[in-house]
Amino acid sequence: MRIIELKNIKKSYVNGDESIVVLENLCLGINKNDIITIFGNSGVGKSTLLSIVSGMLKADSGQVIINGNSLNKNNSLKIRRNYLGILFQDNNLLSEFSVMENLMLPMLINGQTKNKAIFNAEYLLNLINMDQYSYRYPRTLSKGEAQRIALLRCIANTPKIVIADEPTANLDENNCKLLLELIVKLNKSLDITFLIATHDERFLSISSNSYKLFNGDLSSNE
Ligand SMILES: Nc1ncnc2c1ncn2[C@@H]1O[C@H](COP(=O)(O)OP(=O)(O)O)[C@@H](O)[C@H]1O
Ligand SMILES: [Mg+2]
Repeated sequence: MRIIELKNIKKSYVNGDESIVVLENLCLGINKNDIITIFGNSGVGKSTLLSIVSGMLKADSGQVIINGNSLNKNNSLKIRRNYLGILFQDNNLLSEFSVMENLMLPMLINGQTKNKAIFNAEYLLNLINMDQYSYRYPRTLSKGEAQRIALLRCIANTPKIVIADEPTANLDENNCKLLLELIVKLNKSLDITFLIATHDERFLSISSNSYKLFNGDLSSNE
């Protein structure tokens, strides 16, 4: 079954008198457990596409179907909460909170008990051998460490899908490799489907399918 299905997505932006078409009748099907990468030059519409899939931006027309549910203005928040984790280029960890608290927060907001949230946060840190980082603050982490914690945080509420917008853009070689390994691990061990926009060719080796966005549409990147 398709876990994500995009049908004839159209999106344009109006800037003053000018209207620019960013996505034109775009279609995409993603299977459960895929790692899908979207390549394309800066400004082609990758972030626009990911925002539409995650329900944060409305397409002008077309349909976004997540796990069989067609997104609309009434259900998009609920679907995002139930199915999606979102990772940005900059990790957006909350600086006033420790690593442990950053991981616990989404679970507490979702109604988990404190003990359960601590247990799960420890489990997540353990996945990447970062248990000893629990009480550290984001400013004491390298960019790579912070990005791996941010990825753990976005799966704290066990989403089926992670949407990541240029997640390695600010990372050096080794940290990029560690993030890729973590993505593969989460894909294999927790059955998480990934949709990733990137410029980073290193993603090709872990992609089940790779596409290039150009002129409003996707083509295979083989
Ligand atoms: N909110 C907006 N209003 C107007 N134009 C926008 C807006 N967001 C993005 N754009 C334009 O849409 C195009 C695609 O942007 P974006 O999706 O951010 O591309 P990418 O992520 O591939 O770099 C760009 O030309 C950008 O300037
Ligand atoms: Mg972008």
